[in-house]
Amino acid sequence: MTRAPHVNELHRTDDPADTLSGFGNEFAVEALPGALPRGRNSPQRCAYGLYAEQVTASAFTAPRHANRRSWLYRIRPSAMHGEFTALAHAGLADPSAFPPSAPNRLRWDPLALPSAPTDFLDGLVTVAGTGSAEAQTGSAIHLYAANRSMQGRYFYNADGEWLIVPERGTIVLATEFGRLTVEPCEIAVIPRGVRYRVELRGEHARGYVCENFGASLKLPDLGPIGANGLANPRDFLAPRPRYEDLEGRFELVAKFLGRLWSAPIDHSPLDVVAWHGNHVPYKYDLRRFNVIGSISYDHPDPSIFLVLHSPSDTPGTSNLDFVVFAPRWLVGLDTFRPPWFHRNVASEYMGLIHGVYDAKATGFAPGGGSLHNCMSGHGPDAATFAKASSIDTRVPQRLEDTMAFMFESRTVFKPSPAALTGRPALQADYGACWAGLGKHFDPERP
Ligand SMILES: [Fe+2]
Repeated sequence: MTRAPHVNELHRTDDPADTLSGFGNEFAVEALPGALPRGRNSPQRCAYGLYAEQVTASAFTAPRHANRRSWLYRIRPSAMHGEFTALAHAGLADPSAFPPSAPNRLRWDPLALPSAPTDFLDGLVTVAGTGSAEAQTGSAIHLYAANRSMQGRYFYNADGEWLIVPERGTIVLATEFGRLTVEPCEIAVIPRGVRYRVELRGEHARGYVCENFGASLKLPDLGPIGANGLANPRDFLAPRPRYEDLEGRFELVAKFLGRLWSAPIDHSPLDVVAWHGNHVPYKYDLRRFNVIGSISYDHPDPSIFLVLHSPSDTPGTSNLDFVVFAPRWLVGLDTFRPPWFHRNVASEYMGLIHGVYDAKATGFAPGGGSLHNCMSGHGPDAATFAKASSIDTRVPQRLEDTMAFMFESRTVFKPSPAALTGRPALQADYGACWAGLGKHFDPERP
């Protein structure tokens, strides 16, 4: 008898010796013995001739639980680079400039894989967004499709943190803090301001990026669930320092106020020899998500699938939620088991990393996306409704071949002009998936 491998038997992309376990921890690590100052952050002279530098991602006076900063001990300070000038980009767009659009339900095909040399930065295209980088609220959703590693250039984003969701191809995030290898079904978060390079491990890489302009992503509170469950803190992995001592003619690309800017830099900015703090890149394997659901009837609201969220100023209302629909058992008795028909005040962008999403029989491909905005009615398609209405609910049902996710916002995701005109390809007939939901009403048949 064969069975699906348990997550602990799956190939691990990072050697435990290269990563640090825990979410939001105060880590303290060094690549050379004694590189990390003992007992102070800013000694008169750092070991090995290093420079000390603090990077701060929250107000200095933010409450301790929300305070994010790290100290870096590096070969050169981050101030050493040339002047920035505007860098044209065909795909990235600023959502604060998007015009209003109709409340249509939208669905896109996956982004085409490039044939011309295209790195992670080149291959970005914005599909939707809300809010603004300048106001530090809202988010933008980008896709990427690349066929080569970033060569001779480095990137940082002052506008927000990037939640990267690979769908195809393993990528290596070579960051100031160290390296993270991220494969499909894993995610990574690069915090605001962190400099990095994206390398490809295979021929192609494709996936999703959610750019969070608001408060840093955090684990949700668990309430009555208790002390464990959903995404467990120890499954989040941060890198150990791994520095480059490289000199040459390189480029530093910044995203700032919704646009890209380029500056010359004569060395690798990935030159951090030791660091400590809690403002760090991290990764997480979605296959480790502890899926919680009903074991009696109905199913809870999809907030039960929350992995990470960016809180807004309104308690209980997120600026951004990241939700995963992972493999799980459906056991609800006398229950319509797929997602029900609904309209929400929140707006939902869905993506698919692997397999099939249980509310759509066809048309939603891995790498594709759908957008259901504020109060736009949606739910299972006609084929899914017919099947789920007739199954024997005394029999448990295993959803195995799936890994879908949702970026959810309290404010409306405006589709980008590019996404409405063909990049990625917009499906013309998405609304038709509900057209076959026939009228079953019969006042004579209770
Ligand atoms: Fe929905």
